[in-house]
Amino acid sequence: MPEQTHISKLTLTNFRNYAALAIDLGPGPVVFSGDNGAGKTNLLEAISFLTPGRGLRRAPYGDVAREGGDGGFALHARLDGPDGQVEIGTGISGADGEAGRRVRINGATARSAEDMLEWLRVVWLTPAMDALFTGPAGDRRRFLDRLVLAIDPGHGQRAIDYEKAMRGRNRLLTEGSRDISWFEAIETQMAETGVAIAAARAELVRLLAAMIDRLPDTGPFPQADIGLSGDLETEIASAPAVDVEERFRRALADGRDRDRAAGRTLEGPHRSDLLVRHRPKAMPAELCSTGEQKALLVGIVLSHARLTGEMSGMTPILLLDEIAAHLDGGRRAALFSILEELNCQAFMTGTDAALFSSLKGRAQFLTVDHGTVGPTEDA
Ligand SMILES: Nc1ncnc2c1ncn2[C@@H]1O[C@H](COP(=O)(O)OP(=O)(O)O)[C@@H](O)[C@H]1O
Ligand SMILES: [Mg+2]
Repeated sequence: MPEQTHISKLTLTNFRNYAALAIDLGPGPVVFSGDNGAGKTNLLEAISFLTPGRGLRRAPYGDVAREGGDGGFALHARLDGPDGQVEIGTGISGADGEAGRRVRINGATARSAEDMLEWLRVVWLTPAMDALFTGPAGDRRRFLDRLVLAIDPGHGQRAIDYEKAMRGRNRLLTEGSRDISWFEAIETQMAETGVAIAAARAELVRLLAAMIDRLPDTGPFPQADIGLSGDLETEIASAPAVDVEERFRRALADGRDRDRAAGRTLEGPHRSDLLVRHRPKAMPAELCSTGEQKALLVGIVLSHARLTGEMSGMTPILLLDEIAAHLDGGRRAALFSILEELNCQAFMTGTDAALFSSLKGRAQFLTVDHGTVGPTEDA
């Protein structure tokens, strides 16, 4: 059993609609309820900044800083985990602009945001992801890479390195450069990082599929068949990485004229996709009903939470925004009991606390009211 990691105190300064907020949190589920626009999702977004990246809205940092504030924002979390307490702070100062946010761990400046992964893993499910299976492949790729990051902290840097090399190649292409040695240097880098990305994705899919198989056949959250589309991801399953790397490097070299005409790189892991099927219905996820897609996604995220716990030794923190909206009573009850079994600190939001009433006595109920948070009455 992985040991529990939870946020025991959260402090926000000039974060969205919160000028100053401090809340104490327990280890179990937390339910934030309140009117539309009260600031529930903002709280989850704040927690999502405790992992590398731009958070669950992928918003520019300038949008996150409170209007009427000093242009910066800060958040601070005290974590209680297997190794005792850890203090994590992050934010931007007004002068930083889009330069990036800083991270401090136990008072010392972190080398990078990736250092937070040593202490906690955060995974989320938001209404914006309801269109995950029907929407653009880029959204599924991002989702997939977040799943990989939670079990493999090196994945973020790989993605950054690949993107950087590809931007360099695209620049050479659009400038019409014929500098062979520049192309070769960049393409070698793309092949190395690209194959590492594909291998990490393939490994995640293999592990997650095994975990999904442990879901009951006829449970409330249907089993998903998951797979990857993409040349590298396919090849890496049956060929040694060095061979795949060499093949991709050659494909890039041979594809320069084609890519020059397109103005960008047309082959690589930046074009891959996550394929999902609803196993009991034997149907592609995108053809399932909205409710079925949601149940499928919840099943994937819960299986992934279990995998993350087993791989990292710490239970992930789950952010489940408006989770009750699409789930019927039976599925809600099933979700709550799985969360209890996973022993995760799960943050859930809804406009109506009554949808969570079966958690009474087992969850912390907080009411969000336009910049303030307090205990929910009669919960
Ligand atoms: N940078 C900001 N400064 C001040 N208020 C903000 C900022 N960004 C968003 N808001 C406000 O936050 C509210 C939305 O909060 P949100 O957490 O999405 O609500 P909900 O409770 O419905 O999830 C809106 O009223 C919006 O105006
Ligand atoms: Mg919301």
